[in-house]
Amino acid sequence: MKHIIYFLIPVFLLMACGPQERVSKSVFEEVNKAMEAKKLSDAQITQEAMIWGDSISTEAQRLLMGSLHKAVEEKGFEGALEFCNINASPILSELDEKYGVTVRRTSTRARNKTNLPTEEELPILEAYQYNVENGIKNESNIQGIDGGEVLLYTKAIVVSSEFCLSCHGDPTNDIQETVLRRIDSLYAEDLARNFEIGNLRGMWSLKIPKRAVVNRL
Ligand code: HEC
Repeated sequence: MKHIIYFLIPVFLLMACGPQERVSKSVFEEVNKAMEAKKLSDAQITQEAMIWGDSISTEAQRLLMGSLHKAVEEKGFEGALEFCNINASPILSELDEKYGVTVRRTSTRARNKTNLPTEEELPILEAYQYNVENGIKNESNIQGIDGGEVLLYTKAIVVSSEFCLSCHGDPTNDIQETVLRRIDSLYAEDLARNFEIGNLRGMWSLKIPKRAVVNRL
């Protein structure tokens, strides 16, 4: 965690003198009023958002992995690819609606290019990557964005088993030829191969509006 904080300091600084003015005054006032009424401090909100982020990302992971395992059992790896291609994003959108937060996965080596990192996400992914390479345990992270009105919660995703390698591993040894051909036809710019067990695969990235946290408390 120490190292993550160290790496994220420049981001905090940039944000502090960045988009503050762009956040509408009324949103700020509304959140502040609600915080005052409920006697909540910024620290409490951040702590609550961290707990909430952990729980939503765990639910998201379970949902995705549950459906993925089922799809592989029913249709094999090739069929499951199609399943991921069509269903990964809608499964996560359902959580967006359920909780009023934005849930996504991002990676510098993404299969689906819509999962490539934003400017805000990239330094965090780099910090997680540094930690994995140096044997430092990754912890979830939370930081303010959009002038502090939104909290960005992140959690590292590591390649946990050979199961992942069947679609994200070495194309000559781990991925079946038919599966590889299907990946190539669905994702012309695929970067999500050649991973090994223990590598950083990407991270969960949740945008949690402060307002949503205050409303829950
Ligand atoms: C059946 C093949 C298959 C298996 C097995 C599989 N994945 Fe994927 N994975 C995909 C596909 C296809 C996508 C792109 C989904 C999309 O279009 O949104 C993807 C996307 C991802 C992403 C989002 C970033 C990106 O690359 O677009 C992460 C993170 C990820 N997988 C992690 C894992 C992990 C961890 C495992 C093992 C627990 C795993 N995957 C197992 C096929 C697979």
